[in-house]
Amino acid sequence: MKKGISKEKYNVAILGATGVVGREMIDILEKRQFPIGELRLFASEKSVGEEISFCGKSIKVRLASEKEFQGIDFIMGDTPTEISKKFIPMAVKQGAVAIDCSSAYRMDPKVPLVIPEVNASAMANHEGIIAGPNCSAIPIAVAAKPIDARYGIKRMVIATYQSASGAGKGGMDELADQTRSLFSQQEIIQKVFPHRLAFNVIPQIDSFLPNGMTKEEFKIMEELRKILDSPRLGLAVTAVRVPVFCGHSAAVAIETKEPIDPEEVKKLLQESPGIILKDNLQTKEYPLPAEVAGTDAVYVGRVRRDDSVPNGILLWVVADNLRKGASLNAVQIAEVLIQQHRLD
Ligand SMILES: NC(=O)c1ccc[n+]([C@@H]2O[C@H](COP(=O)([O-])OP(=O)(O)OC[C@H]3O[C@@H](n4cnc5c(N)ncnc54)[C@H](OP(=O)(O)O)[C@@H]3O)[C@@H](O)[C@H]2O)c1
Repeated sequence: MKKGISKEKYNVAILGATGVVGREMIDILEKRQFPIGELRLFASEKSVGEEISFCGKSIKVRLASEKEFQGIDFIMGDTPTEISKKFIPMAVKQGAVAIDCSSAYRMDPKVPLVIPEVNASAMANHEGIIAGPNCSAIPIAVAAKPIDARYGIKRMVIATYQSASGAGKGGMDELADQTRSLFSQQEIIQKVFPHRLAFNVIPQIDSFLPNGMTKEEFKIMEELRKILDSPRLGLAVTAVRVPVFCGHSAAVAIETKEPIDPEEVKKLLQESPGIILKDNLQTKEYPLPAEVAGTDAVYVGRVRRDDSVPNGILLWVVADNLRKGASLNAVQIAEVLIQQHRLD
């Protein structure tokens, strides 16, 4: 039986409402006038009772439990993986559809991994959980999809430049604290990142695998193959943390099966959903994380031919990792589900 078809308003729970993704999601739900009946906010014990404003009302943060999920239509998972794994099944059991931003379910073959502009149709037979991809995989997939559809992508070589907020509130605080400490000659405290991030770049995100790759690099590769439905896609990824508060960037080299032309690609990207082309060499216009933070699109610039392969193109891709890279993408998934009446 289809659930929610006749509904005008939906009860939404945010698991991890006090984190950087959760707070952005509350703002997005309000700004996009998502049809909310009741909004329930959940976080860890330390945040219980905190009040967060939504549409002029103050909502108290609660502790999650199976009982608390009764009557919820959508649960948005914005917590670390192990917390999503604990609570998401409880909410689904109570009848909610879960849209989870953590990596808990992304590679589960039964769970669609979705970016609405790229593969909304993957949600057709969802079983209650839909996963949102990694915050670097999302913008890269949005930019790559139209190129893949037109020219067929053979291989991508990617270097990411990922902001501190990709590591959550703790990551942002650590960059701010280290920057202040450096200027005031105080001791540099380092807990979240494996080295000092302030005025530095770190070629390690997450832990190392036996083959020398990081887990983050592996995730980006696996997820891009799943989203683009291209299990044998050639990929090489280096994921780098940079001292930027918000906005993930990526240098992407794409080798295609068919001959490719930069001017044609620019036109194609301009016409593609969710993308803004920012590419004017005369006026030094290209996407910058400082300008992209707080906005919704995936920005692409520096589009040029790669002469080192027969059919190659180089792109610079930037998006707000907290919005399109997580919360906005999840809200867009819910909006598509409502439009398509697939809340069953
Ligand atoms: N940051 C990004 O760019 C980004 C992008 C895509 C996906 N994601 C994923 O989204 C998730 C959230 O990331 P974030 O960056 O928002 O992290 P964050 O700022 O560290 O926030 C984590 C949230 O989880 C809550 N939480 C922690 N332990 C909990 C528990 N035992 N029970 C209930 N809630 C608990 C925290 O509550 P307290 O405040 O009470 O501790 C907080 O609300 C992660 O899985 C991350 O991988 C993040």
